[in-house]
Amino acid sequence: MDWNKEYELGIPELDAQHRQLLECLEKLEAAEDEKAGELAVYFVLTQLDAYSRVCFVVEEILMRLFDYPGLAAHAKEHADFAARLIALEQSELRHEVHGETRKFLHDWLAQHIGVSDRRFARFLLDAGAISPD
Ligand SMILES: [Fe+2]
Repeated sequence: MDWNKEYELGIPELDAQHRQLLECLEKLEAAEDEKAGELAVYFVLTQLDAYSRVCFVVEEILMRLFDYPGLAAHAKEHADFAARLIALEQSELRHEVHGETRKFLHDWLAQHIGVSDRRFARFLLDAGAISPD
């Protein structure tokens, strides 16, 4: 899953953070393709965990600052993702994963960045809260 214009929101800080998330997914796909083993996949997931937490906190602070009406639903998406990611990390360590990690991350990131984060970015830009890229 390469970075492309589909994921560009026009807010440099958010775009930079989303690039990091997508780079983690690329690393995970490479580790799986190279059959690098569950531990290598686990390390990438822990990195994704750290990057995504920072990304989510930044977004949610901006939502509070600018009274984004979709905050509760958006924050729930973040919380659900964080919980699922931890479950997947545990599964990787127990060798129980059968390709579901890759599919889940790909689908979630595409949907969340492409739809939910785009909606929030449009709100910030329309409100004049942040200068576009
Ligand atoms: Fe988000």
